[in-house]
Amino acid sequence: MPTTLQHASPTYSPARVDAVAPVLPVVGADTRVPLVDGRWVPYANLDVAASAPALEAVEARVARVLPLYASVHRGAGYLSQVSTALYEQARTVIGEFVGSRDDDVVIITRNTTDSLNLLARCVPDDAATGRPGRVLVLDVEHHANLLPWQRDTDATVLTGAPSVAETLDLVRAELRDSGPYALVAITGASNVTGESLPIAPVVAAAHAAGARVVLDGAQLVPHRPFSLAQTGVDYVAFSGHKTYAPYGAGALVGRRDWLDAGRPHLAGGGAVRRVRVTGTAWHEGPARHEAGSPNVIGAVALAAAAETLGAVDPAELAVHEALLRDRLVVGLSEIDRVQVVRAWADAVDPVGVVTFTVTGYDPGLVAAYLSAEHGIGVRDGRFCAHPLLGRLGFDAGAVRASVGVGTPGSDVERLLAAVRSLCEEGPRAQYDVVDGLWVVVDDPRPVPEGLGLTGLLATAALGDPTGCTPTVP
Ligand SMILES: Cc1ncc(COP(=O)(O)O)c(C=O)c1O
Repeated sequence: MPTTLQHASPTYSPARVDAVAPVLPVVGADTRVPLVDGRWVPYANLDVAASAPALEAVEARVARVLPLYASVHRGAGYLSQVSTALYEQARTVIGEFVGSRDDDVVIITRNTTDSLNLLARCVPDDAATGRPGRVLVLDVEHHANLLPWQRDTDATVLTGAPSVAETLDLVRAELRDSGPYALVAITGASNVTGESLPIAPVVAAAHAAGARVVLDGAQLVPHRPFSLAQTGVDYVAFSGHKTYAPYGAGALVGRRDWLDAGRPHLAGGGAVRRVRVTGTAWHEGPARHEAGSPNVIGAVALAAAAETLGAVDPAELAVHEALLRDRLVVGLSEIDRVQVVRAWADAVDPVGVVTFTVTGYDPGLVAAYLSAEHGIGVRDGRFCAHPLLGRLGFDAGAVRASVGVGTPGSDVERLLAAVRSLCEEGPRAQYDVVDGLWVVVDDPRPVPEGLGLTGLLATAALGDPTGCTPTVP
């Protein structure tokens, strides 16, 4: 069986994947959730691309470190020194995880969004015009890799073409004919389709045109080995909570000069060498951008995830994910009324993210049904990638299933069976739209006890803080 499926064809049907085991143990793998019919079933977490569960190894490291936790950097106490050493060691491990070069800077941030916002404010102005630096970005990007460039730099958004080869040609032509650009911002893997452009030709074209490259590694770094040194990529941004370390830290790693000269990301204690009423001398290096008390536990957790993932044979990770992804793509494509979303059907080695629609059912209803009647967690909406969904004709949104190292193949089979059942028999429970969100009418499912919860908050009740869900008609 091939490890990657490049063209989903109806004649190719990968075997069922019930027997495919997770690669690494994750916390909560045996958590059971209630269904509307009163049964309890193991939760099938197929929303790993949004936030991944913690690796057991990460949980264990955090438990080991918490009793040692104390203030960092400015504390003289023994545990302060231990915590400071742990934080700085985590920085080193995180840098090594993404193949940083000797002179690269590793900045601990909150997440990918934070990292890209930080970098956007460090892109130097265009020396010739004095205007903000020019950044080239494709319309396939997550908003986190689009909006910072549009707000803080002179951004050009290029519309992608239907194939990888055509899109690469467009990027090359733009860099050649309409430069100079300071930076090219590309995704390591789309959060909608799991697909990507190959990194090497983008880096070659950018560097030949005098531009740097930043990779949005949010969906790539947790799934594939990645190296700044080997690829020549100048900056990479990624999130701990997508890398099986949901403790609030992320990272930006890359070339020192822009980061040393750029506007400090946060203004406050720790980022400065000297402060007078008349002026401030800012640090260089990571401290410049990490004002305030740092997220030591988050950094330690991300480093533990990096060590654990780094110790797994990359081939094992790739085969596990390809088996599950191929089965999802082909299994869904075989169901009448289901359409799988592809940005570039010729993309090589996509990660385990598969988005689809079911004709006749709103994506929000499909997601509510999968949760309420099957205990399956997926994501619906436009995935903070409105330009891409719009260009591909999915403005009304879609449903996304995503897998990771902790996903058993049986979860994938459960999803396929549930979608087949929806298409053949329809939902059993009653659903309605409340405040723009699909919910079960008179939902009888209880909330977990002992946590002070009185009910579940629907996204709509929060005003959809992600801005990622389309309005239900
Ligand atoms: C490709 C991609 N980039 C950026 C982000 C933003 O990540 P975060 O929410 O961790 O900042 C996401 C989140 O889904 C993503 O999938």
